[in-house]
Amino acid sequence: MLGPSPPEAPADFRRSQELRDAHGRVITDLRLSVTDRCNFRCTYCLEPGTKFLPRQELLHRDEYLRLVQAAVGVGIRTLRLTGGEPTLYPELDELIKDLGQLELDDMAMTTNGWSVTRDRSRRWLDAGLRRLTFSLDTLQEDRMQTITRSRTTVREVLDSIMTARDSGFPRPKVNMVVMTDVNHDEVADFAALARTHDLDVRFIEFMPLDSGRNWEAENVFTMKQVQQTIEKRWPLKRSSGDAPHSTSTNWLFADDAPGKVGFISPVSSPFCGACNRLRVTAEGKIRPCLFSHAEWDVRPLLRRGLDESSLQEFLIDAAWNKPRGHDIGNAEFQPPERTMSAIGG
Ligand code: 5AD
Ligand code: SF4
Repeated sequence: MLGPSPPEAPADFRRSQELRDAHGRVITDLRLSVTDRCNFRCTYCLEPGTKFLPRQELLHRDEYLRLVQAAVGVGIRTLRLTGGEPTLYPELDELIKDLGQLELDDMAMTTNGWSVTRDRSRRWLDAGLRRLTFSLDTLQEDRMQTITRSRTTVREVLDSIMTARDSGFPRPKVNMVVMTDVNHDEVADFAALARTHDLDVRFIEFMPLDSGRNWEAENVFTMKQVQQTIEKRWPLKRSSGDAPHSTSTNWLFADDAPGKVGFISPVSSPFCGACNRLRVTAEGKIRPCLFSHAEWDVRPLLRRGLDESSLQEFLIDAAWNKPRGHDIGNAEFQPPERTMSAIGG
């Protein structure tokens, strides 16, 4: 038995060898989760006690590779590896090496930064990983413990970031999820971090994807508030050259200090219009949107050894069914069953 498949795209779409949706968007970016496991339990993401999938449910390295290979054949140009925490995937280094052989314009990875060593960064770079994004939500050690519910320290994550940069990752990105009365008072400190270390800091609105279902609209510190906070200290100027499908609006410091800041506002101003992404979970569910209720199981095709064109047809159908957008702000909004750690950011 095959698992749930997406409704078929019209025949001419299926022949096109491109991932297009019914709203005229072309899909060129794939987010691949390589594990649902994480060693953190961030309050806005993962509740302690959350059950992870049995290992045999997760795709194997050759399955990830065959899937991405098929996706590249139908127009995927950029790839981001996510988790859970991708560095917990035992075969990560080998997978990056395999993926590095494909014809991609960019390969990036998001990590919580608990352990990025010089050796590993170099290996990733040599294998074709181009960019690293670190999740870090506080610069205060006591808060770090409260937010991540882990033993990893701010110092360790900052060391990982600097190690990545010194090993050759040009300008690591830092993602900060900003929450009212949790860490909103650190926005200016993160802007200062960007300036001091020439980093690219992305501020993100808290989305209703936490497994504790504690999200409340009033905990969302909006990007407008973030920008106002920063500009009280350091006026900003818009950075030119944002890609149309960029999830963030990017800014430089008006005084030409190093560093950049970016604002990601999925709640206060959804950026679905130009979305070019498709997501794959660690066990092979294709998700057309972070917030969609629909997802389709490509694992049976991989496990039954179906050929590349069957995988591509599946991806074309999945892309065609991408919803126009989501509306977190709407009272009718229902969060998806899956939470962020089980989707991959
Ligand atoms: N809201 C906003 N961002 C989130 N992330 C995880 N959960 C949430 C949430 N509920 C972020 C992480 C990471 C990225 C992959 O997604 O901080 O930077
Ligand atoms: Fe792990 Fe990232 Fe979720 Fe934190 S936000 S629990 S680091 S997957």
